[in-house]
Amino acid sequence: MPDPHSDQSLPQLPPGFRFGTSTASYQIEGAAAEDGKGPSIWDTFTAQEGRIHNGDTGDVACDHYHRYVEDVALMKRLGVGGYRFSFAWPRIQPTGSGPANAAGLDFYDRLIDELLANDVQPMATLYHWDLPQALEDDGGWLNRATADRFADYAAILGEKFADRVEHWIPVNEPNVVMMMGYAIGMHAPGKTLMFDAMPAAHHLLLGHGRAAIALRDAGASSIGCANNHAPMWPASDDEADVGATKLFDALWNGMFMEPMLLGRYPTDLQPLLEEIVEDGDLALIRQPLDFYGVNYYNPFRIGAAAEDAEMPFEFRELLGYPTTDFGWPVVPDALREMLITMRARYRAALPPIHITESGCAYNMGPDENGVVDDQARIDYHDAHLRAVATACQRGVDVRGYYAWSLMDNFEWSEGYSQRFGLVHVDYETQVRTPKRSFHWLADVIGAQINSL
Ligand code: NOJ
Repeated sequence: MPDPHSDQSLPQLPPGFRFGTSTASYQIEGAAAEDGKGPSIWDTFTAQEGRIHNGDTGDVACDHYHRYVEDVALMKRLGVGGYRFSFAWPRIQPTGSGPANAAGLDFYDRLIDELLANDVQPMATLYHWDLPQALEDDGGWLNRATADRFADYAAILGEKFADRVEHWIPVNEPNVVMMMGYAIGMHAPGKTLMFDAMPAAHHLLLGHGRAAIALRDAGASSIGCANNHAPMWPASDDEADVGATKLFDALWNGMFMEPMLLGRYPTDLQPLLEEIVEDGDLALIRQPLDFYGVNYYNPFRIGAAAEDAEMPFEFRELLGYPTTDFGWPVVPDALREMLITMRARYRAALPPIHITESGCAYNMGPDENGVVDDQARIDYHDAHLRAVATACQRGVDVRGYYAWSLMDNFEWSEGYSQRFGLVHVDYETQVRTPKRSFHWLADVIGAQINSL
């Protein structure tokens, strides 16, 4: 029996470490208008010309809504102990408020039971970006009332599923929602408000806090978050580049982590938020968290923008690293350092961490023998698991790693062109083919379990 603690060829993770895979409703479910589901902002956005690569939509996606039994069987084969998925809000409340749609709840009821029957523990996200369109028509996350609606929705889910869902995450990547959705418009709802998008950030955070309370009241035992974190590297030592990097770091990382853990906004951002924050909001946002979820992909290299630019910072290419097919640099050491720095900086305020996402897009398909030879993805996950293992050895409490993603899926503005899955999906036939990385991860997990 292989023992990972003596076998240097495998990442050395702590006993009980949770392996999982991660997905999101709009990216995999399809069934966009079935069983009473209302339209979401992503249904609207993908229907608009020129928004998405190739005009792709999530109407069918991986047809997971009808194939979840097969997909759970894949997870069983992989041997993961956890699965992170999201509820589609417009399946539960088609217009974002009012009574629950029984057929929508029923789908997740069946999914959760199927997971549990296969020894996979659910980690459920409440909001992975598919806002009911009716709420967007009232201002979406720019409207403070959306946080109230979100609390009602959380209460419905908590009451129904708190006894069976192990881990809860109110909002996935609020920074990406604010920046991509409301500031620069590359994601739904496609607004280009630049710094005027700040209210969306605050209301997403309020939503996080209000949902955490509602879930706790309903008996949820473990509540966390899934914040996207990227180490920020200045393009040079130049004062302007360093200053621009510091500001972007505050906007991307600090603006969400600090209110959640410390109950305050980063000092540099406070003037921008003064008129939005009401008395008591920060206390509400800072709810006790049972885990801190980190979505990690890569560091950003930031420089100062030209004087007349819309934003004071800009992205510069990070050279000297291998890149995925998406062009994203692969920098596992930055994950290790980031985890170590988080622990040093936040100490007792930082709960145990789960890596709620980490992954890479490589787009190869099956060869003539039906094999998807994605060695680059094996290298990616191997290196990132080792980075996590080293951080654990240095005292960071990381409890789990959820690979993004179980299977290829709808990659937002990139449509189906970027494949992040451990399982290949043929979108014409919906045939699933586990890639070599799937078999590799199954071996890693098997060795880990056998060593206990
Ligand atoms: C983070 C998002 O949560 C997920 O939806 C997305 O597909 C991955 N990053 C890859 O971009």
